[in-house]
Amino acid sequence: MTHEQLLWWQSGIIYQIYPRSFQDSNGDGIGDLQGIIQRLDYLQWLGVTAIWISPIYPSPMADYGYDISDYRGIHPLFGNMDDFDQLLQEAHNRGLRIILDLVPNHTSNQHPWFLESRSSKENPKRDWYIWEDARPDGTPPNNWLSVFGGPAWEWDEQTGQYYYHAFLTEQPDLNWRNPEVQQAMLDVMRFWLDKGVDGFRVDVMWHMVKDKELRDNPVNPDYQVHMATYEQLTPIYSTDQPEVHDLVQQMRAVLDSYGERMMIGEIYLPIQKLMTYYGPDNNGAHLPFNFLLLSMPWDAQKIASAIDEYEHALPQRGWPNWVLGNHDQPRITSRVGTEQARIAAMLLLTLRGTPTIYYGEEIGMRDVPIPPDEVQDPQGLNMPDKNLSRDPARTPMQWDGGEFAGFSATRPWLRLGPQYKRPHVAAQKEDPHSQLHFYKKLIALRQSQPALLVGDYIQVHADHQALAYIREASGAPALLVVLNLSHKPCYLAIQHRTISGRVLFATDETLVGTAVVNRIQLGGDEGMIVELDEDE
Ligand code: NOJ
Repeated sequence: MTHEQLLWWQSGIIYQIYPRSFQDSNGDGIGDLQGIIQRLDYLQWLGVTAIWISPIYPSPMADYGYDISDYRGIHPLFGNMDDFDQLLQEAHNRGLRIILDLVPNHTSNQHPWFLESRSSKENPKRDWYIWEDARPDGTPPNNWLSVFGGPAWEWDEQTGQYYYHAFLTEQPDLNWRNPEVQQAMLDVMRFWLDKGVDGFRVDVMWHMVKDKELRDNPVNPDYQVHMATYEQLTPIYSTDQPEVHDLVQQMRAVLDSYGERMMIGEIYLPIQKLMTYYGPDNNGAHLPFNFLLLSMPWDAQKIASAIDEYEHALPQRGWPNWVLGNHDQPRITSRVGTEQARIAAMLLLTLRGTPTIYYGEEIGMRDVPIPPDEVQDPQGLNMPDKNLSRDPARTPMQWDGGEFAGFSATRPWLRLGPQYKRPHVAAQKEDPHSQLHFYKKLIALRQSQPALLVGDYIQVHADHQALAYIREASGAPALLVVLNLSHKPCYLAIQHRTISGRVLFATDETLVGTAVVNRIQLGGDEGMIVELDEDE
């Protein structure tokens, strides 16, 4: 494959926006669609090519938009449909694609479908959700747990049955075994595709179908008390059922009928299982999200083996992808530190496949500690002793050095970190050595080098400090990427390859242009990309 043959989502770079926290345009302390429009020029300047926006639909906000009460509207907090149409238009004018969040697994308990479903056992929509009788002793039908704590079954007094909710009680799961549900959700997809959206990030794709017999999940022998209570069981019957793939293929068929649209699946599963979501004939999700770098210890050897395993497990024609952070996980800079954040960026943007950047990553935003009485995230509120709140990674984007960071004219919905500690776009834009410029340059490099866009991935070295790999495409210069994942200096002697080339990009800018021959030396927290001489 040559880089000219790549589709937009293969050659592109995705940028995730958490809309409550990106830019407030109307002074209510909550980000909105007009705010995103104001910042499109920034995103274009940065060089990303697609935006994934977390849910913007009407919602009671029990789970900050992941509890949807109308799949075809816009929450007034974010604006209205005219604002959305304008956003789509303005993004497309700038060559930026729009990926919406689709949440097919569950609705809000305020969605009209659920209100109907719970109104009586005879209601035609009763079977749109998962209703079950109690066991003879009155307890729930099985032992399944909610991801957000407690049992996954909620008793409904009025109709005398339990309903299933993998997340909050306010988020009842749809019954995807019902063909009417399938058609209703495929129609939702068509509604947005007709408007011109370029794709969907599909929430909890691996949850969509549950075991028909509702068998008990087995106990997880590796559970430890600091973990979320959900992890007490291994969810082999409540998630990742074989029937899910038929549904994914139906969704894919809808996308394919529109041409170059795409679907990313949110799936937290081990590598081999993750791969099945590409579909038997590459007719599943275009990109099953690869969360390896989110969950791995920051260890060169472990990361190198994980990359290798992922690369080898990919199905033929399956396009890879990489992620460092999202709105559910601690920020990368807080996980690995400011210096290593640049190494992480180099990894993200030089591995094979589509990278996704989480807003603020490019300026080194950190998790902001949120005092207990300000916690908003239901996951944090439901399990207060476990430190599981996702708020710290969802704080407002830091645009400038003002009191509210240029995010809003008023106090934002979630606090910012102390003013003197906040990295921000305005200062970093002025400083050519800033992390923001580092990202911008890396992005430009990725987009201009065929080896990075389509080249093979060849691992050439991994030890307890550093890893190195070559990206190689025919007809273009091969690149050697060398990353020191430790704070200590290191020497690398690459085995079985003679190395000779010139530094193209480095954390230490003074190295750019210098020659590299065989032995490579890196300071702590350093990385470099070497353009290899042609005869190598
Ligand atoms: C995954 C989303 O990323 C997360 O934020 C949400 O709470 C759950 N799905 C439930 O929709």
